[in-house]
Amino acid sequence: IVQLCVCFIVGYIFGNIPNGYLYAKSQGVDIYHQGSGNPGSTNVLRTLGKRAGITVLLMDIAKCMVPIFLMILFWKPGNEDQKTLILMLTGIGAILGHNFPILPGVKGGKGVACTGALLIALSPLYTLGLLCFFILIVLITKYVSLGSVLSVFVFFFSVLLMGKSGILFPFSEAIYLPMCGLSMFLALLCLFQHRENVKRLLNGTENKFGKKK
Ligand code: G3P
Repeated sequence: IVQLCVCFIVGYIFGNIPNGYLYAKSQGVDIYHQGSGNPGSTNVLRTLGKRAGITVLLMDIAKCMVPIFLMILFWKPGNEDQKTLILMLTGIGAILGHNFPILPGVKGGKGVACTGALLIALSPLYTLGLLCFFILIVLITKYVSLGSVLSVFVFFFSVLLMGKSGILFPFSEAIYLPMCGLSMFLALLCLFQHRENVKRLLNGTENKFGKKK
């Protein structure tokens, strides 16, 4: 338990790093007052272009990956189940640090890049498949938010339906239930963070990918 609390706190501290805000600020832009107002890579791309969006995406992935690898190196888990719990708790810490930062003047994001980073650490091959699904949804609908929310729910249902089999994920049946709970938490959190997007999707005013607001 102490181990998992440390993982969560370290993740949370890294999650606070406001990459999108700092990058946009370095370009003379206040990202909180542009486009959707979200400091994530989608809005940075929308506001400052592809290069900026990809840079922020990679930086947000890194701020979740770095604490995960640090915690795995530090705790040296003895088996895949321990490793999975360490990376889930560190990743969720980073996502919550990104979504609900304590740093003054920093606004939270929606945690999609951080969730992606956690999934890469959990199962790279599965994440590649999920990324294809995400890209397909965005290409068809032009809504990044819809792709994000649906993908995180696909992850939850993958854990729920296939988590016991050991085919998609490396953990054993022993931590199947906690993994169902954690992945459900991630899906509901992602939906909650996208509540304004969902409202816009329902009334047809959501920003389309590739179009400036
Ligand atoms: O990654 C966040 C994305 O799902 C939506 O971003 O800026 O359109 O609210 P945005």
